[in-house]
Amino acid sequence: MKRRSFLALSAGFLPLRSARATDAEIIIFPKEPTGSISPFLHGHFIEHLGGVIYDGIWVGENSQIANIGGIRKAVVDSMKALGSTVMRWPGGCFADSYDWMDGIGPSSQRPIKPNFWIDNGRLREVAPSHPSRNDPNHFGTHEFIRFCRLIQAEPYLAANVRSLPAKSFYDWIDYCNSPAGSSTLARRRAAGGDVEPFGVRFWGVGNESWGCGGELTAAEYSVEFRKFTAWAPRWGVPLNFIAAGPNGGDLRWTREFFSRIVDKSPALLNRVWGWALHYYCGTTGKGDSLDFTNEDAYDLVRRADRMQELIEQHWQVMGEVDREHRVKLVVDEWGAWHRDGTAVAPHHLFGSVPTMRDALVAALTLDTFHRHANKVAMANVAQLVNCIQTLFLADGDKFCLTPTYHVFALYRAHQNNQAVRAEFLAPKISYRYEGGERQVVRLAGSASLRSDQLVITAVNVSLSDPLEARILVPGANQLDQPQAMVLTTADIHAHNDFQNPDGVRPQAGKVSASGRELRLTLPPMSVVRIQARLV
Ligand code: AHR
Repeated sequence: MKRRSFLALSAGFLPLRSARATDAEIIIFPKEPTGSISPFLHGHFIEHLGGVIYDGIWVGENSQIANIGGIRKAVVDSMKALGSTVMRWPGGCFADSYDWMDGIGPSSQRPIKPNFWIDNGRLREVAPSHPSRNDPNHFGTHEFIRFCRLIQAEPYLAANVRSLPAKSFYDWIDYCNSPAGSSTLARRRAAGGDVEPFGVRFWGVGNESWGCGGELTAAEYSVEFRKFTAWAPRWGVPLNFIAAGPNGGDLRWTREFFSRIVDKSPALLNRVWGWALHYYCGTTGKGDSLDFTNEDAYDLVRRADRMQELIEQHWQVMGEVDREHRVKLVVDEWGAWHRDGTAVAPHHLFGSVPTMRDALVAALTLDTFHRHANKVAMANVAQLVNCIQTLFLADGDKFCLTPTYHVFALYRAHQNNQAVRAEFLAPKISYRYEGGERQVVRLAGSASLRSDQLVITAVNVSLSDPLEARILVPGANQLDQPQAMVLTTADIHAHNDFQNPDGVRPQAGKVSASGRELRLTLPPMSVVRIQARLV
């Protein structure tokens, strides 16, 4: 590739004469904060779907599999490296058919109910009595809160708008948040083992209400949202309502909801804490998670990179009504979604074995959230275990971390930092796909600062070429104590599985500092974290 200095592209900087030619330049502006990186941008999502809850998280108290009160211990232990973030439950589409009352009281007396996904795809091959098809409700509100406490996550409950009235929503809030002994439902909570309130702050009002959540129009949904949030028992914690937002680029849904919600009064905007955008970049090629071409990989990354324009477009439309931008975006479902042919168990609906390609998607997406930290208040990857962009694979006593998990672990260093403006300058990659010429970003990333500690994460999307990168921090006297961690593989198809659980994992990398400049090589198909002290 043509080697040149990219500094000229950055306003106010002249090209510097470099001792060694570089392919890429990363310029960090520590005095230009762009938002605070909430740990909630690294949030998670679990649904009663396939192998997510039963098998993935809930193995039961009497299981031979190591567990803490029925919750898979390996998941709990692994989550500790990811920081304290947020967990969304019970769906997804499942949420709009779920009655929270089925999941309280003595476990053996809870009803067994047909799961929303009962007859979907590979589940048709599974026995009807399997918990993925007929849910025994062993994992209910108490178990979910216990899971959140074990991993220090904030609970985010998604309420049923399609098939239950607003009263049931108010009752769930009462059950979770009313002070000890204050109401009949608070006493039932105590009988279920939790005298003290759960203090749940985040409440989703429906899920995908344009689809499985009721097939509503945005106008109809705005009425439901108003009704569900017109009153609620408020105790101790604020209630942050998250409204069911659009599917991908559906700007009409956003425009219509925002204009309808203020029909009665502009003050109603204050009821909407978050506007939930769902975007799956899907799959490419044959749809197989393990069998794909280089061009399929590039095209998947290109599709994932659309997240950026979706955030900007919806943000702009929201601003037509919400001029002060009181409402923030919540990307509460995202990920690459391949066919489930490589799933590790028959009941793992939407499960597949993810590769380094999916790690590139995860890193690129988290960097996008960091760069838009002023717009996105929360983002939840779909889903935690055995599903879509999964962080873990689990089947019986077998368990492993996926490459996506390692991206979350590396990126944790950004949590609670101040995001700062950063330019990642490198030419795009051109490739041929579906009969045409396409381009995908070659280098992307984000940067953040906490006091004098600088954190930079970057992705080299090229499957063939390393990137010689120079990192420059104008305004700093010196960069000290540089460190790098690198997640890369020799083959984009590399993955972890039960036979080889550690094939893909981060390693220490090399980075050198000289004055206010860092230099390092980003290997092909790599995710890199660089840390240094600003002097
Ligand atoms: O994450 C799987 C499903 O995808 C969710 O249930 C739904 O909200 C979305 O369509």
